[in-house]
Amino acid sequence: MPVHVNEETLVFHLQTDHTSYIFKIMKNGEAGQVYFGKKIHARATYSNLMSREWRDASPSLSEENQNFQPSTIKAEYSSFGKGDFRYPAFQVTQENGSRISELKYENYLLLDGKRRLTNLPSTFDETKDDAQTLILSFKDQITGLTLNLNYGIFPHQDIIVKSAKFINSSSENLVLNRALSSQLDLPDSNYDLIQFSGAWARERHLYRNQLRPGIQNISSLYTSSSHQQNPFMMLARPQTTDEQGEVLGFNLIYSGNFLDSVEVDQYNTSRVLIGINPDEFCWNLAPGSFFQTPEAIISYTSDGMNQLSQQMAVFYSKHLVNPRFTNEDRPVLINNWEATYFDFSESKLMKIVNQAHQLGIEMFVLDDGWFGHRDDDTTSLGDWFADKKKFPNGIEHFSQQVHDLGMKFGLWFEPEMISIDSELYRNHPEWMIHDPKSTPTPGRHQFVLDMSRPEVIDYLFNLMGHIIESAKLDYIKWDMNRAITEMFSSQLTKNQQLEMPHRYILGVYKLYDRLTTAYPSVLFESCASGGGRFDLGLMYYAPQAWTSDDTDAAERMLIQFGTSYGYPQSMMGAHVSAVPNDQTGRITSLKTRGDVAFFGDFGYELDITQMTPRALSQIKKQVTFYKQYRRLFQFGKFYRIDSPFSKNGNYISWQVVSDDQKESIAALYQLLNHPNSPYTRFYFKGLDPNRQYRVNDDTEIYYGDELMNAGYFVPSIVIDGQESKDFYSRLFIIKAVK
Ligand code: GLA
Repeated sequence: MPVHVNEETLVFHLQTDHTSYIFKIMKNGEAGQVYFGKKIHARATYSNLMSREWRDASPSLSEENQNFQPSTIKAEYSSFGKGDFRYPAFQVTQENGSRISELKYENYLLLDGKRRLTNLPSTFDETKDDAQTLILSFKDQITGLTLNLNYGIFPHQDIIVKSAKFINSSSENLVLNRALSSQLDLPDSNYDLIQFSGAWARERHLYRNQLRPGIQNISSLYTSSSHQQNPFMMLARPQTTDEQGEVLGFNLIYSGNFLDSVEVDQYNTSRVLIGINPDEFCWNLAPGSFFQTPEAIISYTSDGMNQLSQQMAVFYSKHLVNPRFTNEDRPVLINNWEATYFDFSESKLMKIVNQAHQLGIEMFVLDDGWFGHRDDDTTSLGDWFADKKKFPNGIEHFSQQVHDLGMKFGLWFEPEMISIDSELYRNHPEWMIHDPKSTPTPGRHQFVLDMSRPEVIDYLFNLMGHIIESAKLDYIKWDMNRAITEMFSSQLTKNQQLEMPHRYILGVYKLYDRLTTAYPSVLFESCASGGGRFDLGLMYYAPQAWTSDDTDAAERMLIQFGTSYGYPQSMMGAHVSAVPNDQTGRITSLKTRGDVAFFGDFGYELDITQMTPRALSQIKKQVTFYKQYRRLFQFGKFYRIDSPFSKNGNYISWQVVSDDQKESIAALYQLLNHPNSPYTRFYFKGLDPNRQYRVNDDTEIYYGDELMNAGYFVPSIVIDGQESKDFYSRLFIIKAVK
């Protein structure tokens, strides 16, 4: 039973298979945190952990309760203005301008299972995986506002999902200035903060820093989760590695402006807040209305970061990703973007399609440039109908030819955008986000649609739905290529303008929801100039995402390694592209490019009509090989071994292992080749110590314990005078022998 409630002491103990999360209703009627970490026994009370002592002259609850000082307590969901001077979880402004709240516990509700939220992507328990839902209700003594704190407890993946719902049960107009999804007050600050930051084409590199006193924030104001920061972060003990040690993982099921904040206070406690960024946010709560925050995920393990990533990966596949795609093999695709950019015709594309078919590739994805009169990136966004010059018989005809070969067909859209040179803009200039008093700021020559308008969602749903049906689309790549400026909507009142960033994201979710409901078999891949919206909000609708516009193999080792901490490899679109690489100018071998891209949703993004017979035959082998081990690559348990973010980042390695531990593939990459290099022993992970295995086609058979503990000798690289041995890769295919 995951939730223990002691009715007398009002102690709530949420237990998963390996963790405990405990809080208690305190004297002042709020919930106070007792513990979050490795599982402990359930007891009636934990007075030792809740004991209070007078510290300084800071405010106390009352004359009679001098020891109860809000600045010293660990709160479950804090407000500001009653003596706790750390940043709060929420703030509400009343009609008279006061921002004081006094929450008092009212009751709780415990339910089996976990239901979805109605207007936001969220977790669920449709596989009857023993999840439970706990709802704690509080009433604000000043305004009468109701606050529900919602907890989803998923025992077998050691995950707790938290969100808050504000219901205006008063007769006043209230304004929410701040409404975070989760607060966790940890009793010490002996942690490293591990975050995943970067830039366009350099996303999600790992940064690890010791917590320091004060506030450390990771956040976005791009109206997207962003290339620059990612909502996933970890707090790890200083000694924690991928292999061992305590670590907490946090994430948010949201694609807009977010805040991950850790505040280390005067007593070295650490307050972790996760949620919608309170900057550029507010929500008007008229009497009778409510506001639901997105869900935050928290997870814990004492067994290192590989374990944390693995339990989150299982969790997302069972409780977040569209069940239709959970166990569905992702097709090997070819995308024409880097092969042709805007310069293509139907016949040129058909050459690529025919060649791809010969090579065993399963899906053709037609990227940007098929609609309106888009020959470069200055026009036509919003005109989602075929360019008759490029497709005289429509997309349907082209799609039919692809389908006739037995291949799937996918199409690129950038639904949220509008070009000034478009029919859409000529008909509906008011649909573009802009401030009437300010010159619109272009980004990649384009502007953004006001996704908070229902008529915009209807327009996009109808046009996209029409093409999905007429061209029988199997897949959609949904791109989003600029950040939003002049965030203003002429249909909202003055007081609602700060609601726009969140309303925008709700509009995006609405369109995703309508499309995925109406066309359940279409596979969506999200993209935002590559990895600018790589988050759990979109994972709910689009189980795969274009990881980065950087397809250079060496750069991808870092990007995929960093991404793997918070997201499963089945979410990572990974393609082989041409050399010299378009983003870095680097030349890497076709083998290395393949060996990196295998560890994700594999595909190609280059002109296969211009390649040598030798290269084509190598591609054919890669495709066959990938198909043979596809489930392992896409859904196998992922282990990071040698990190590119460590001091000796010259070697990078990772491994996937099947659930039954009978099959595994490891990759060892080297960035630069050095002469007469030191001996290398490779230590495999995740094998069954008692089983015997063969590695590649070695004649010798090894026990799992030997391969993991004694290691496997890797001979030095033979220089053949043919090819550079920089960016060199090796794969180890490990199979159990009977
Ligand atoms: C973005 C995407 C690319 C490609 C282009 C098309 O940059 O990340 O993969 O689709 O847009 O304009």
